[in-house]
Amino acid sequence: MMKKVLAGALAAAMCIGMVTPAFADDLQIAFSQIGQESDWRTANTDSINGTIEAHEGWTLVYDDAQQKQENQIKALRNFITQGVDYILFTGVVSTGWEEVLAEVNEAEIPLILIDRLPDCIDDIDYVAAFGGDFVEEGRRQVAWAGEYLKSVGRGDEEVNVVIMEGTTGASAQTGRTEGNLAALEEYPNMKLVGQQTGNFTRAEGQAVMESWLKSIDDIDVLIAQNDDMALGAIDAIKAAGKVPGEDIIIVGCDSVKAAFEAIVAGEMNATIECTPLYGPFVEKTIEALENGEEMNKEIVHPEEGVYDMDGGIDLGTVVSVAAKDVIDERIY
Ligand code: AHR
Repeated sequence: MMKKVLAGALAAAMCIGMVTPAFADDLQIAFSQIGQESDWRTANTDSINGTIEAHEGWTLVYDDAQQKQENQIKALRNFITQGVDYILFTGVVSTGWEEVLAEVNEAEIPLILIDRLPDCIDDIDYVAAFGGDFVEEGRRQVAWAGEYLKSVGRGDEEVNVVIMEGTTGASAQTGRTEGNLAALEEYPNMKLVGQQTGNFTRAEGQAVMESWLKSIDDIDVLIAQNDDMALGAIDAIKAAGKVPGEDIIIVGCDSVKAAFEAIVAGEMNATIECTPLYGPFVEKTIEALENGEEMNKEIVHPEEGVYDMDGGIDLGTVVSVAAKDVIDERIY
């Protein structure tokens, strides 16, 4: 209501030449980001912040929570106090957001959910939600390895699999783990021999792989829930005198350029795409709302691919593409 009154006053003021038209669109858009743990996250921040900063009349209010839920809660409360016009939110973990998101709702600030969606999504008001289909991404990781093994005549061979998980309690971790484990049921030759978090970082991916290589006799397949951990693990595998991509089949997730480079170099086998490029989604949503359009609360999962050495592995919902054919187009 207040916004309508202000818009009316503004229109009248513009008619008599008191303000410039650009002022009519001035919006403060706040973004509570998790941190900067991976190449994916950097690309996500750049996409969203870059889009907002490039938009005339829009001002970015940004907070990096450094992987701490308490920092995100503090940031959301600061956004409310500042009276921002929109809040963009992705949660480091999926639980524990009911109270603060109810406060956002009470303040009547439109909430746009991005990437890792909160468990309480059905109990809060939001204007739009965009995120990867984490369960499907996890399913694709294991299915890629299973189908690849079949394609090279190893479909009946018993192989040892380790799953390197993301940040415990993040929806990207719980969803991908659910998908990983469900898909393993479809490939009885793939035996799970290790499962541990590497926190979505390259350094922890390397450390976890180092310890697995010392404690597990024979690792045939590494499922790393993001590419950064896969790349850290590659360093550990090389340091142990093994050949990544040959002695150990490596499937990552995200499809960042560094993973494409590792695939082209033969050190990694596949990566499942999870897009970080939500800037354009956010821009369209806010423009539509400012134009008075109604949004529906459907969760949007962008279309995502699978990339590997040669392409052609059929995962039912998608067929893989060779990384070398798309590497030049990848901007992150
Ligand atoms: O939530 C998306 C995940 O978070 C990405 O897969 C990972 O790289 C990031 O840290």
